[in-house]
Amino acid sequence: MTGPHSHAQAPARPLEGRKLLLCVGGGIAAYKSLELVRRLRDAGARVQVAMTEGAQQFVTPLSFQALSGQPVRTTLWDGAAEQAMGHIELARWADRVVIAPATADLLARLANGHADDLVTTLCLATTAPVTVCPAMNHRMWLHPATQANLALLRGRGVQVIGPEDGPLAEGESGPGRLSEPDAIVAALAADPVPAAAPDRLNGVRVLISAGPTYEDLDPVRYVGNRSSGKMGYALAAAAARRGAQVVLVSGPVQIATPPGVRRIDVRSAAQMREAVLAELPADIYIGAAAVADYTPQQVSPQKLKKTPGSHTLVLELVRTADILAEVAAQEDALKLVVGFAAETHDVEKYARGKLVDKHLDLIIANQVGIAGGGFESDQNAATAYWADGQRDFPGTAKTQLAEQLLDLITERLDA
Ligand code: C5P
Repeated sequence: MTGPHSHAQAPARPLEGRKLLLCVGGGIAAYKSLELVRRLRDAGARVQVAMTEGAQQFVTPLSFQALSGQPVRTTLWDGAAEQAMGHIELARWADRVVIAPATADLLARLANGHADDLVTTLCLATTAPVTVCPAMNHRMWLHPATQANLALLRGRGVQVIGPEDGPLAEGESGPGRLSEPDAIVAALAADPVPAAAPDRLNGVRVLISAGPTYEDLDPVRYVGNRSSGKMGYALAAAAARRGAQVVLVSGPVQIATPPGVRRIDVRSAAQMREAVLAELPADIYIGAAAVADYTPQQVSPQKLKKTPGSHTLVLELVRTADILAEVAAQEDALKLVVGFAAETHDVEKYARGKLVDKHLDLIIANQVGIAGGGFESDQNAATAYWADGQRDFPGTAKTQLAEQLLDLITERLDA
């Protein structure tokens, strides 16, 4: 009924070039994963399949082999398969791991970091993003244990597709149906990762600071800021996926550590400085943290009390050390130093000023205080400046911006 010009056409092969590792769990919905393999391949993806023991009770590896055009992995203990492509190699090959169906038991084992069979081991060994497509009885789905496992996995950045509400295999109805293959393909296409993570950063040591700092006033109060840490964490995750050795010095944030990243938690600007300097030398330093510029001159050992009769309280603050400038001064310890500048106005002027004053190789500036970007947001727009150039990055998800910034950082490393 719809004519050729009636609506915007989705790309015919939205997963072109993608390398997907499909892990099949042991549920009745496993039969739908056969169809999923076809749809993923129709969408352009290369698909390799791994199955749990349970999955093989429902569907045979031969069916998946025929549909994927690839040998199917079923166990850790297959010497011939390991020789062809070891499980660690397989975990590295994938640019995304998709688990469909993800049973309640599989979700629990993933949440707890088990590695007692092929599928859980692959999931622990990969640095690729993971997608789970749950399918189970609706009471199992709604059980607090399953929901808690899911919350844990979501907190680690796992993408969750479904389940759908509707008739279930046991003749009951409720949330628990595996999402339809087309819906899974659409969700994967909407959350893209680069077809092949460029490996120029393989083995490169990347030190990143992220998040806010908290400067204590007394045992219960602090001076902080609204940085969420999302940008620095997205950079850390993307760099680790490209094979970098990433150390993330993090202020207090509510984000899970990205896979493959070594994280050091700090609270104050002074602690952040100490941790960052202790991690030098590195190849690249990215100062994405919102470091406090001032800290209370004194931390009161006791809770500050209201002074009767006084309407004001004067806090004496002193300047903190500029970590970024200090790092940049250690020219022999680094190849590239990248700073961030959050500005409310005159972005280029202030950003270029910091580039020169702090002796940086690159500065990423963004305008804060406007809707839809900056602090706390999942979105950001930025402009990067270096001595003889600049590049605009229009508004996009911080995860996407991180990839684009890493492309530029890699270019500047080689410049
Ligand atoms: O000068 P301004 O604070 O705007 O510069 C921001 C950049 O400097 C960010 O990269 C931030 O991580 C870094 N910075 C720092 N230590 C400070 C203040 C800022 O490393 N004390």
